[in-house]
Amino acid sequence: MSAASETEPAAGPESEEPTRRDFIHIMAGSVAAFGAASVVVPLVHQMNPDASVLALSTKEVDLSAIEVGQAIKVMWQGKPVFIRRRTEEEIAEVSATPLSDLRDKDARNPNLGKAEATDAARATSADGEARPEWLVIVGVCTHLGCIPLGTAQGEVKGDYNGWFCPCHGSHYDGAGRIRKGPAPENLPVPPYQFLSDTQIKIG
Ligand code: FES
Repeated sequence: MSAASETEPAAGPESEEPTRRDFIHIMAGSVAAFGAASVVVPLVHQMNPDASVLALSTKEVDLSAIEVGQAIKVMWQGKPVFIRRRTEEEIAEVSATPLSDLRDKDARNPNLGKAEATDAARATSADGEARPEWLVIVGVCTHLGCIPLGTAQGEVKGDYNGWFCPCHGSHYDGAGRIRKGPAPENLPVPPYQFLSDTQIKIG
């Protein structure tokens, strides 16, 4: 028997024992897999919107301080939203408007899907219930994006007792429907729902 055969273990292809090189390969693979996982987990986490993003995508509004005949403007997703608590006279005026008088006959209300632009259809929330007292519309002129006047106390409301865009002279009625001027479409209704009689959630 030689000296070498007494000090070195047999390492032929038939050996089941992991060698030192195998051990290094296993460790390197484990570290690589752990590293990849630790990158993927934060990436997936970043793709889930956090609470602050979700909060920005919706807006809860307390309506209790709005008097009949008043309107307010709130910001939702960077856009103004007009909320007007309409008088009975205002509701009667827009309800009596024949559809044939409207330039845009689409309700533009995502809470309803495709519907004609009756006043009731414009004042319907995601609950499916029309509440004509409350009109909720996005306050961005459908011509070139100016913010129409008619929400703040004393602002000019245009020829149809609704909103007026001074940029190029578009007139919207008390249901936010385009009646005169270059704007092609009614002011859109945002998705919204009533959380109670005096609280809505937009978005
Ligand atoms: S942007 Fe409103 S009329 Fe042109």
